[in-house]
Amino acid sequence: MASIPAPVDVTKTPEWEALQKHHDKLVEEGISLKDWFAADPDRVEKLSFDLDDLHFDLSKNLVTDETVRDLVALGKAVGIEERFQNMLHGVHINTTEDRAVLHTALRRPKSDEGKFVVDGQDTVADVHEVLDRMYAFADRVRSGEWKGVSGKKIETVVSIGIGGSDLGPVMVYEALKAYPRAVDVRYISNIDPNDAAEKLKGLDPETTLVIVVSKTFTTLETMTNAAEVKTWLLQTLEAQGAIDGSDEQKAQAILHHFVAVSTNLEKVAEFGIDPQNAFGFWSWVGGRYSVDAAVGLSVIVAYGKEVFEDFLGGFHTVDEYFASTPLEKNVVALMGLVNVWYVNFFKAKSHAVLPYDQYLHRFPAYLQQLTMESNGKSTRWDGTPVTTETGEIFWGEAGTNGQHAFYQLIHQGTQLIPADFIAFVNTPNPAKVGDQDVHELFLGNFLAQTKALAFGKTADEVRAEGTAEWMVPARCFTGNRPTTSIFGQALTPHALGELIALYEHITFVEGTVWGLDSYDQWGVELGKQLAKQITPAFHGDEALDAQDASTKALIEYYRAHRK
Ligand code: F6P
Repeated sequence: MASIPAPVDVTKTPEWEALQKHHDKLVEEGISLKDWFAADPDRVEKLSFDLDDLHFDLSKNLVTDETVRDLVALGKAVGIEERFQNMLHGVHINTTEDRAVLHTALRRPKSDEGKFVVDGQDTVADVHEVLDRMYAFADRVRSGEWKGVSGKKIETVVSIGIGGSDLGPVMVYEALKAYPRAVDVRYISNIDPNDAAEKLKGLDPETTLVIVVSKTFTTLETMTNAAEVKTWLLQTLEAQGAIDGSDEQKAQAILHHFVAVSTNLEKVAEFGIDPQNAFGFWSWVGGRYSVDAAVGLSVIVAYGKEVFEDFLGGFHTVDEYFASTPLEKNVVALMGLVNVWYVNFFKAKSHAVLPYDQYLHRFPAYLQQLTMESNGKSTRWDGTPVTTETGEIFWGEAGTNGQHAFYQLIHQGTQLIPADFIAFVNTPNPAKVGDQDVHELFLGNFLAQTKALAFGKTADEVRAEGTAEWMVPARCFTGNRPTTSIFGQALTPHALGELIALYEHITFVEGTVWGLDSYDQWGVELGKQLAKQITPAFHGDEALDAQDASTKALIEYYRAHRK
């Protein structure tokens, strides 16, 4: 902690005061995107940005020139640029765990070796040593050189992990499905035995490789699932006559069918996995920031080295851009600051992320951990309480499915819900129905939604359609519901890396404004501790008596009804 100054109390800064006054004035004068667009022919140009192959349109946000100026001033007042430089150079900005935060080192090119030595460790050299081993291992599996215990080629990978050791790889695996893959991957995360039961259905253990992914290698869910899958694998191999059931053959089977990703190589060896088949990462990579570390191994096995290199390149492009672009032109920083504008001045509680790309259907779930585990906090990085609202509830669903589910509330509900729309110009699956290009039908919906949210529909327009007067209010759209459009050229591995880095840094910006250590997650601990105390109460009376009245009653209900 010593080297990190206490966070600025952002609410006491003149910049915050200026934003508050500006907000109140806008509200008093009446916010009207329609009027703002009419008054300023350059609005779209001023609020559009290109970052490599992603195009951003922020013009449908509730911001004026003055808002942007004031937000940038706020960003400078809290030292976003300096703090990011500190992060890049390994200052221990994760104060509560006294750790550097160096996920940006995971995507640096080899030519950066020697330039980022942190706590005596050449981070970039270490990263490339592991990457090279992962690529070599993945090649062996993909080519069929790596064999199961009975000499068969691997057809399916089962990846076991949870949280940051699962959400990233699943999301990326799904997002890249248009690319050729050498093996299928099934992801098991939940300790609910239904998850493993369903994922193992129909699998032949002789052609299955299991990757156990856990930073700590102690997580209850992952270790339970790993043990369960180990039992399934050994018993089924024995039943199929692939091994004879001796301890030696069982150990061989584990060596051939289990590999690990972890920072805890001792525990990996205890599990029976050959340390040579363990791929490490470091305490300076948070779980939710680790998909581009060894945690992405399943993605490399499925899609190969070139795809993963392209993916890492996307992250690095955004890192470089974010580090080198002045705040006023820096779309990454601006998106983070605009989010602060909504949370703290418009009192927005949630933020929708709506990918118009079916391949990104797991992106909102991935973002939930990234953003909410990072910034869902009430204490600042020096241990003092926060001074304003923090965190946003990120949620979403792929368009157009969401349109037929929850968009009603975004269009006409009483809450302001800023939304990010993500779409791509090109599709890997062009289709036509008659003369109609289906992708254009899809993109037409993306554009229609952002237009409807921004500009709405007036009572006069509704009346002109012959609507009965009493029904006019129900059919009006207020408009002025903010959206950001991210329009990429195509969902390539590179673009996907860019998108992830974009949201990582948006999270950083918000956390910096609020004075948070966005890289710890103490809020997950209590539930874990209590689960250990409660589980024995299903059968033990002493443990049952130690529970509170509600928990006790629920366990008694369980005992009464368990079949
Ligand atoms: O419980 C939350 C958490 O600690 C996440 O931060 C992490 O991504 C996840 O659990 C899994 O942890 P591990 O990779 O150590 O199994």
